[in-house]
Amino acid sequence: MTEETFRKTFGTSPEVVVRAPGRVNLIGEHTDYNDGFVLPAAIDRAITYAGRRRNDRHVRVYSEDFNATAEFDLGNNQKDTQNTWSNYLRGVTKFLESDGYRLTGTDMAFGGNVPREAGLSSSAAVEVGATTFWNKLLGLGLDPVYVVKLARRAENEFVGVPCGIMDQFISALGRRDHALFLDCRDLSYRHLPMRCDVRIVVCDSGVKRALAQSEYEVRLKQCRAAVEKIAATGRPVKSLRDVQSADLEAARGALGDLLWRRAQHVVSENQRTMEAVKVLQAGDMERFGELMNESHESLRKDYEVSSVELDKLVELARAQKGILGARMTGAGFGGCTVNLVRAEATESFVQAVGKGYGEAGTLAAKIYVCQASDGALVSA
Ligand code: GLA
Repeated sequence: MTEETFRKTFGTSPEVVVRAPGRVNLIGEHTDYNDGFVLPAAIDRAITYAGRRRNDRHVRVYSEDFNATAEFDLGNNQKDTQNTWSNYLRGVTKFLESDGYRLTGTDMAFGGNVPREAGLSSSAAVEVGATTFWNKLLGLGLDPVYVVKLARRAENEFVGVPCGIMDQFISALGRRDHALFLDCRDLSYRHLPMRCDVRIVVCDSGVKRALAQSEYEVRLKQCRAAVEKIAATGRPVKSLRDVQSADLEAARGALGDLLWRRAQHVVSENQRTMEAVKVLQAGDMERFGELMNESHESLRKDYEVSSVELDKLVELARAQKGILGARMTGAGFGGCTVNLVRAEATESFVQAVGKGYGEAGTLAAKIYVCQASDGALVSA
């Protein structure tokens, strides 16, 4: 499809086609920027880039989603205030050049089926896709973790969104039928097979994540403030990753209720994620589902990033036959829930949750039965 778009737009065939997937996080939420643990999977919804090099230093990029073209010279690549969708690509392009990679002018088209602003990391897919595109087009031989870091840097420093590293990591390094366990401190990771008798079902609440960015920054600062207070009690902690439940109790007075609850979420979520890895390896999907349910409660009550719509989707999901676990996924304040459902119950689950959600409010849920998929660097 994107290849065809490229042909139509530029009147020639693409030299390179790459794809980068969106993601869903199974467990380990709001832990990545606390040096903690995450367990996401790449999904079978992706952004595709198709393009070819030019003989100059000019870049023309066509967005299928926006039906618009952005153009810039590699030597004069500024943030675009009109075609803001192009900033993810401009960011990685700028940082590749400032890191010493000399790029060439290019014509390209991109688009795909990762829903935007739904919490499935379409922006990470756009960034990782663009980096992978340059890598392949020019044979740059980039190290995979460098690709991930560069993509995140584009989001943090160019687009200006202070996200953690999870989304870019999984978009680059996901593996088909596997989840990825990542230690966000040292970036060591392991792929863990998903059982073939359970399905990952994503329910999109249809609520765009309006508050997500401002509240995300608030949470980030609260986590840092909690670490400072705990460190001031004499514990050698650099981030919430280093904090144990006992440290939290000892610092309860110093933290006060709000910071205690924020920190409690992160500390307990790290513990749940590590347990989730163990039980996934043991094939104990019942316990895995319970951990997902506990994660949701913690995000709802202690971290306060859920929403009425997400809670409704979770409640409906938990009432269905064949459900193992249900929780909000991603930053929160709208976006999606992730559900683990026994394969044979998937169809009735999708129908019942869709119906129940429609009856409960004014929005329709979009429901995706997802397959864990290869990341951009795996399929490239
Ligand atoms: C967003 C961010 C990630 C991560 C999640 C919450 O998706 O981009 O880095 O922090 O929120 O787990």
